[in-house]
Amino acid sequence: MAHADEVEVLHWWTSGGEAAALDVLKKDLESKGVTWKDMPVAGGGGEAAMTALRARVTAGNPPTAVQALGFDITDWAKQGTLGDLNEVATAEGWDNVIPAALQNFSKYDGKWIAAPVNVHSTNWVWINKAALDAAGGKAPETWDEMVVVLDKMKANGITPLAHGGQAWQEATMFDAVVLSMGPDFYKASMIDLDPAALSGDKMVEVFNRMAKLRSYVDDNFSGRDWNLASAMVIEGKGGMQMMGDWAKGEFLKAGKKPGVDFVCIRFPGTQGAVTFNSDQFMMFKVGEDKQKAQLLMASAIENPSFQSAFNVVKGSVPARTDVPNDAFDDCGKKGMADLAEANTKGTLMGSMAHGHAAPAAVKNAVYDVVTRHFNGEMDSAAAAAALAEAVAAAKG
Ligand code: GAL
Repeated sequence: MAHADEVEVLHWWTSGGEAAALDVLKKDLESKGVTWKDMPVAGGGGEAAMTALRARVTAGNPPTAVQALGFDITDWAKQGTLGDLNEVATAEGWDNVIPAALQNFSKYDGKWIAAPVNVHSTNWVWINKAALDAAGGKAPETWDEMVVVLDKMKANGITPLAHGGQAWQEATMFDAVVLSMGPDFYKASMIDLDPAALSGDKMVEVFNRMAKLRSYVDDNFSGRDWNLASAMVIEGKGGMQMMGDWAKGEFLKAGKKPGVDFVCIRFPGTQGAVTFNSDQFMMFKVGEDKQKAQLLMASAIENPSFQSAFNVVKGSVPARTDVPNDAFDDCGKKGMADLAEANTKGTLMGSMAHGHAAPAAVKNAVYDVVTRHFNGEMDSAAAAAALAEAVAAAKG
């Protein structure tokens, strides 16, 4: 017999830091009498999880709640497969405390369909403190300063850039490199998908920078999981990792302290702007027997103290604007302040790599070109031309 209050949850939080954060949610629900049925699908960025989800929905048996990003949520909503959280959302006033940039994905047709658990951002660099000290001690603020630090790390005999060769990881770095050419350029190319921006000189320069970064990775980078790249920086074998703030979860899990063992900076040249992605639990239409637990889960996720407890561990920042920053470390406090600043300045933009800039077809077209260029299959001019073409075809 199924438990009266059970939620089956599909997610890709399987690394050490991710699992620790997930545990906060699991325990919170268990304390409210909701049983957790786990459906983990490993693979950073969630591509494999989305494939598993399609199979479940096709079989007519969707899980209760599914971790999902941006436009993927809208796609499922369009197909009429998602439930309705308005009863809880209205009673708890979600409209007033969840930023509009997130609501764009959590709501469809006036209905709340997903509960946002956090806000991550992709334009971060995580640096081993001792390796930085050995390379002059000053965190880079510009692209040129970063190249100097990377060169020194190389001369010091470590792998300057810890990277995992998977398309989504290259795309995550690409988010930051595009943003380093200016927020207007990020918006024109990644959000508006303007062909001139996608194929022009600035995009060629973006690819030149990607090629430069490629020269700092080790020989074994191909296929490496992102958390193993984080481990290289944690252990001092790698100098830095360019990755979203889920990487912080790995440093914390390993007992490392910001400012002492590692340093977090915005990707040089992107200060004042944020490319974000928000993990949300989209809720599928389920039978009446499961609705109570589903609503309980949605409500638990939006609870302000849960938002604090969870995001402190995950490396992200709260999805609500009214959560105090007291419990967060310096990187978390910076993340919250940066988000608020970018939101005010109009420089808060969705991450292409993590499904918040464009629908999956366009995202996958970007992945393909970025990863082929990174692996030396084409030069920078050819890559910019291919990018514009691939995006135009994917847009349909
Ligand atoms: C992101 C997700 C994060 C993190 C990362 C690596 O797409 O938003 O929560 O888990 O993938 O798996």
